[in-house]
Amino acid sequence: MVGRGVATILFTDQVGSTRLRELIGDDGADKIGREHDRIVADAVTSAGGRIVKNLGDGALVVFDSSVDAITAAQRILEGVNVYNRDISEAHRLKLRIGINAGELVTGEDGDVSGLPVAVASRVCEIAGASQIIVTGVVRSLVGRRAKFGFQPLGPYQLKGVVEPVELWAVGAVVVAETQPAETVIPFPEFLRRGVPRLLVGREKQAAAIEAAYGAATDGVRFAVVIGEPGIGKTALVSTWCREAVERGATIVGGRCTPDAALPYQPFIEIARAVLGARPGLIADLGPASGNIAQLVPGVVTQVTLPPPVQADPDTTRYLMAEAFARLLRADAAGLPVVVVLDDLHWADEHSLGVVAHLARYADDLALLLIGTYRDTDLVRNHPLPQLLTDLRRERRLVRIPVPRLTESEVGELIAARFGAEAPEAVVDSISEETQGNPFF
Ligand SMILES: Nc1ncnc2c1ncn2[C@@H]1O[C@H](COP(=O)(O)OP(=O)(O)O)[C@@H](O)[C@H]1O
Ligand SMILES: [Mg+2]
Repeated sequence: MVGRGVATILFTDQVGSTRLRELIGDDGADKIGREHDRIVADAVTSAGGRIVKNLGDGALVVFDSSVDAITAAQRILEGVNVYNRDISEAHRLKLRIGINAGELVTGEDGDVSGLPVAVASRVCEIAGASQIIVTGVVRSLVGRRAKFGFQPLGPYQLKGVVEPVELWAVGAVVVAETQPAETVIPFPEFLRRGVPRLLVGREKQAAAIEAAYGAATDGVRFAVVIGEPGIGKTALVSTWCREAVERGATIVGGRCTPDAALPYQPFIEIARAVLGARPGLIADLGPASGNIAQLVPGVVTQVTLPPPVQADPDTTRYLMAEAFARLLRADAAGLPVVVVLDDLHWADEHSLGVVAHLARYADDLALLLIGTYRDTDLVRNHPLPQLLTDLRRERRLVRIPVPRLTESEVGELIAARFGAEAPEAVVDSISEETQGNPFF
């Protein structure tokens, strides 16, 4: 169609093509270029578009429909993935795609021009390998016709374009032939090991956790189990969790350790368990899904993801926290998800940031956070007390102190351990020596 008309414009671009040419020479690079042209031609033919021109290391394609354009983009990336499967890292085709829509001019020769074409080209330059970025116009045109899983990237100032342009990344493309099956999220190993043969006492504390769990259907609740080392914090929480899981609760958890080498330590443990069971969830985690996948190597292998976000530290932390929050969105049965964070006095700052972020979802997430910590072991200026104070003010925090065992409970514990009732004098002296701390 010669003249003016509205269309959707798609650019592909080979990431690092100049460098590739240097590395593997012209013949190799040309061969990859031909593969690119073939993959694009196949996808565009099946989705219904017109290739305006091949650009050496990319292509310019126009579509009547924005849905068709995104469908083609996804098929292109699927084709790239299939091609890359048997190709060594250095020779892989890495492609980015940008899509815009607007009024353009089509010449006698079929070439197109106009500002929307230039914007599409700029948008493509912003995308990372395997990423599809579209403008707000395209997003609006798609509307509710198709579920592509758009993730907001915010307004961008594009080179040579005066007004900022709203950009969206299109969700991950699942390339596995069959979607991996969902399995049950495994009960956390540290909780399995934490369950004592018989939990003595602690009825009141268990009831407090139970009440918080019930209340969590209406929004985030945080139960903090507090006490000295060895008093039975992990034993209490483990026992409650094991009973809850038998009633159908979803339990995830992670530990904090004094020598944490990685930020987000407990949440990485959680992500591994959740994604291991439900790999498809990775597509719902937003712009930082690539970062999360990177943190759990080997767990998510069958999807193409946006490249890890490398924004300023605050933005990255926000997007990471958001990704973890999305990971914990209610379980299928609509019951609150239980997130156990053991030994929070050792939590890294990033993990506490995630906790604070989760708390911000107060009313939207059915989530019970259970944290344990030693109030005796908090270093000065640890951010945990402030966080707890904030949550307490919002009446979403339940403090559950774990006191020393009473003398009769010590007796019960000894009986449970040694299978016989101990003479009173023995209980007395043990009780005195251990000060009711079951660890001893
Ligand atoms: N109420 C209890 N009944 C029976 N055993 C307990 C009880 N509390 C703690 N224990 C046992 O004492 C030890 C220390 O408890 P743990 O839960 O690890 O303490 P914490 O997490 O507070 O440091 C564990 O072996 C645990 O099984
Ligand atoms: Mg413990």
